[in-house]
Amino acid sequence: MSDRDGIAPHGGQLINRIATPQEREEFLSKAEFLPRVQLDERAVSDLQLIAIGGFSPLTGFMGKADYDRVVSEMHLANGLPWSIPVTLSVTEEIADSLKEGTLVRLDDTTGRFLGILHLAEKYAYDKIHEAINVYRTDEEKHPGVAVVYRQGNVNLAGDVWLLEREAHPLFPTYQIDPAASRQMFREKGWQTIVAFQTRNPIHRAHEYIIKCALETVNGLFLHPLVGATKEDDIAADIRMRCYEIMLEHYFPRNQVILGINPSAMRYAGPREAIFHALLRKNYGCTHFIVGRDHAGVGDYYGTYDAQSIFDEFDAAALGITPMKFEHAFYCTRTQGMATTKTSPSMPEERIHLSGTKVREMLRRGELPPPEFSRPEVAAELAKAMKV
Ligand code: ADX
Repeated sequence: MSDRDGIAPHGGQLINRIATPQEREEFLSKAEFLPRVQLDERAVSDLQLIAIGGFSPLTGFMGKADYDRVVSEMHLANGLPWSIPVTLSVTEEIADSLKEGTLVRLDDTTGRFLGILHLAEKYAYDKIHEAINVYRTDEEKHPGVAVVYRQGNVNLAGDVWLLEREAHPLFPTYQIDPAASRQMFREKGWQTIVAFQTRNPIHRAHEYIIKCALETVNGLFLHPLVGATKEDDIAADIRMRCYEIMLEHYFPRNQVILGINPSAMRYAGPREAIFHALLRKNYGCTHFIVGRDHAGVGDYYGTYDAQSIFDEFDAAALGITPMKFEHAFYCTRTQGMATTKTSPSMPEERIHLSGTKVREMLRRGELPPPEFSRPEVAAELAKAMKV
């Protein structure tokens, strides 16, 4: 890879598992006769991410060697860092009906044909071991653990093909796949790009850390997650409108690219921060923002655990640089956003912001104040949530 090509994808090559027109024809002609497995929303996103190279170097759902090493040691069998299993789980009954070495048709829950799995392997796995290692808890009330407990007991593994890369039904113009984002960064001449992962409506602490990061690099890839989230998270279409409003009023348009991240939230805190960073490396980003309690839920993780986990990896092997930010707040003494690194305030002079707080206020019928949200965003949230 030359400098012109930007940062190398994880593993060195951007994976493309979208069926070619010939493969597509072949799969369509066989489809009717193949055994079928239905994918839930998360598995559909995973299939898409594998196919578009977001999960490079993965070419399919993980086999046992990768799975075991990822769960226990946060590395793939080939030694590359990887922190979250990407698996396709089915019941024993379904697994028993499938033969290794054959093709399986992958459908969504409505029976629509989405892709193909070359079933290389099927294996049982230990759910509690996965929960404790990946999520640091075996409690079922953790939303990521709940998904593991609900899914089938056998993982199907092997290379996949996505039949067709379709436009996103809600955000077609923001569907920027890794090959496209890399091209856009090249066209803009950006050498350093910081990615921002988010699953909440943008608030002022987000804006502050994004802008602090952007001051030190060429461009920002604003990359909200639009895959499956837990029930009480705010819907992606509402969040996307908030980002559009922010771009219209509060950011220079030519410094920012807004694209959707199709993946599902795992709420795995520290391990998910690594996963999120590797995903953005594949999209061509050189830097990744990790603030307080990144990808956390409840009190499962320490405020900065998702930052310190980066120290457990070889920086060159990760190949994307975390930009770590302390808990940001509105400081009434200096009348601006700050952290304890930049503000002399006493705790009572700090207005702490979080997506959770904004959600709670909206549900109580209150509009978030300007120290929480920009007024245009607050108005949009109020409208969307009928406050
Ligand atoms: S997350 O699940 O995607 O991490 P969220 O959208 O709230 O949730 O956070 C996006 C990013 O902003 C994460 O890196 C998170 O750590 C960071 N962040 C959120 N709120 C704050 C805050 N008040 N101070 C510093 N960082 C924050």
